[in-house]
Amino acid sequence: MTNKNIQTKPSYNVAIFASGAGSNALKIIEFFSENEYITVSLIVCNKINAGVLDIASTYNIESIIVDKNHFNSDELISRLHSYNIDLIVLAGFLWKIPETLISNYKDRIINIHPGLLPKYGGKGMYGKNVHEAVVRGNETKSGISIHLVDEHYDHGRVLFQAVYFFPEHLTAASLASQIHILEHRHYPVIINSYIQNCFPLNK
Ligand code: GAR
Repeated sequence: MTNKNIQTKPSYNVAIFASGAGSNALKIIEFFSENEYITVSLIVCNKINAGVLDIASTYNIESIIVDKNHFNSDELISRLHSYNIDLIVLAGFLWKIPETLISNYKDRIINIHPGLLPKYGGKGMYGKNVHEAVVRGNETKSGISIHLVDEHYDHGRVLFQAVYFFPEHLTAASLASQIHILEHRHYPVIINSYIQNCFPLNK
C-alpha cells in the first residue's frame, strides 16, 4: 500500500537549444548532473556538425536536429511535450524562436546574450558580431544578459546582468573569452534560481 502522506518532490526537465560549440550547454549539463530534481533531458540543435551534439552524446542526452520547416511547426512542440520539457534554455541558439513556441512556453524560455542589453542586441547580433560591434563602438565595458524570451529579438525581461570593464587595448577575440568566463560562471546558477523561485511546487 502506498502512503499518500509522502509527497514526491517536483522534477523539472530542461531542453537546451544550441547551434554551436556548446560550451555553455556543457557547463549547464555539468551543473545539473548531480541534481535530483532538475535534469537536462534534451538538446535541440539546428546544425548537424555542431559541437554541442558531441557533448550530448558524451553525457547520454538525447538530441534532435531541427530544420527550418519543422522548427516553425507544432511538431516540435509535440516533441518537447513528449519529453515533458518544462523549461527551454537557449545557449547560443541562433534562430528566432517562433511565436507558437513562445506562447506554449510562456516565461519558460531563457536566453543568454553576450552583451549588455538593450545595447548591441537585435537581429544579426550574436557571438563575435556583438563583440566586434562593442569594440568598434569604443565602449568601456560589456557583459552578459540573461533574459526571458519574447516575440522580439533580445527583448524579454532581464533576469540578470554581469559587467566586464575593459582593460586597455582589448580585442574582440579577448573580449569573447572574457564574456564566456562570465557566462559559464553565471548561467547555470541563474537557471537554477529561476526554476526554484518561479516554479516551486506547481508540477
Ligand atoms: C555565447 O557567447 C552566447 O552568449 C551567444 O553565443 C555563444 C555560444 O557559445 N549567444 C548569442 O549571441 C545569442 N544572441 P557556446 O556555443 O560556446 O555556448
